[in-house]
Amino acid sequence: MRIINVVGARPNFMKIAPLMEEYERHPEIEPLLVHTGQHYDEKMSTLFFKQLGIREPDVNLEVGSASHAVQTADIMTAFEPVLLDYHPDAVLVVGDVNSTIACGLVAAKLHVKVIHVEAGLRSFDRSMPEEINRVLTDSISDLLFCTEQSGVENLMAEGIDQDKIYLVGHVMIDTLKRNMTIARQSTILNELRARRCIDGHGYSVLTLHRPANVDDPLVFSRILDALEVIQNDLPIIFPIHPRTLKNITSLNLRNRIDRLARLHLIDPIGYLDFLKLQSSARVVFTDSGGIQEETTVLKVPCITLRENTERPVTVEMGTNQIVGTDTQKIVHAFKRIMEGNFRESRIPPLWDGKAAERIVDVIEEKIVDPKMRRYEVVEAL
Ligand code: UD1
Repeated sequence: MRIINVVGARPNFMKIAPLMEEYERHPEIEPLLVHTGQHYDEKMSTLFFKQLGIREPDVNLEVGSASHAVQTADIMTAFEPVLLDYHPDAVLVVGDVNSTIACGLVAAKLHVKVIHVEAGLRSFDRSMPEEINRVLTDSISDLLFCTEQSGVENLMAEGIDQDKIYLVGHVMIDTLKRNMTIARQSTILNELRARRCIDGHGYSVLTLHRPANVDDPLVFSRILDALEVIQNDLPIIFPIHPRTLKNITSLNLRNRIDRLARLHLIDPIGYLDFLKLQSSARVVFTDSGGIQEETTVLKVPCITLRENTERPVTVEMGTNQIVGTDTQKIVHAFKRIMEGNFRESRIPPLWDGKAAERIVDVIEEKIVDPKMRRYEVVEAL
């Protein structure tokens, strides 16, 4: 059985790594890896392949950056001939980026089974491009693997057949568990000390890249106002996403940022360094989805700079607080954490490092079985 596995953007790489490793224990499965090229920089892509031991992709579609419509369309146009060439039994997509829906849609139209890993998450905020990608991908998937119970409930509320839905835990946490020991040896903290970004009194970490936060100068400024206060208590390490860096220039925020002496902008860093950085932080500020989950497992307080989350288990059981982008609310949440007012997290069910194993077992049972196979690709043409 041949499965095409798709990656495109940075958060996909951590999710695909344990699956590619797990396939090695299943000789009846022939896994192919397609990189759409949605992310392409050394620091946004290549470094992750190296650190996570992911093999070279069989195909790189090299689509690069563009508007949503153009990027999605380019991926679709480039992916269709790959499916026609390789005739896979299934296409596996992860997460909620444009590559996820683009490749899922091409596969569904060619009557190739679609497997969605990290299905069912819902922010119920359709202004987020990722929410559109999630809803659409789930609606055309044949097997849906959920990281948390809310995902199962959301899918059932949308009328998706229960037989297709599996709660399996989280492949991204598989990767975290596998890499924690080696990440502890990262020298990132020494480097930051040598650059005088941090001292012995703790630090915080910031990541910011959502369009809602970094495309709107008012929202971005409100967050900077909060950081101005916070940096008096703790230095802030800010590995900066290329989209955010571009916007700092285009929104004329460079002077404003340069005035914040303890806000340290650094280049995007690799997986192992980031794991070390967040695991030793006093607090993490983020608008990322995955970091809300990683901080829960690492038991590091997390302040989410968004009005909602599609990952409610991180609030119910984890360290996550959904604080939004109001200056006073961010500062207040931070002060409370500094005073020691935060909850011990519990690890969500099945976040035990074995999600990839469960997923591949289900795939084997449901797709390798010839009775479950759909039609030949050519039939759809
Ligand atoms: C994408 C995902 C988002 C995910 C994020 C992780 C969608 C809709 N969004 O957002 O869900 O959280 O990745 O990073 O799929 N750029 C580079 N080098 C790169 C990649 C991007 O310089 O390797 C710059 C380009 O200027 C580009 C911009 O970043 O225009 C945005 O990249 P894009 O892939 O469109 O979206 P992200 O904001 O990264």
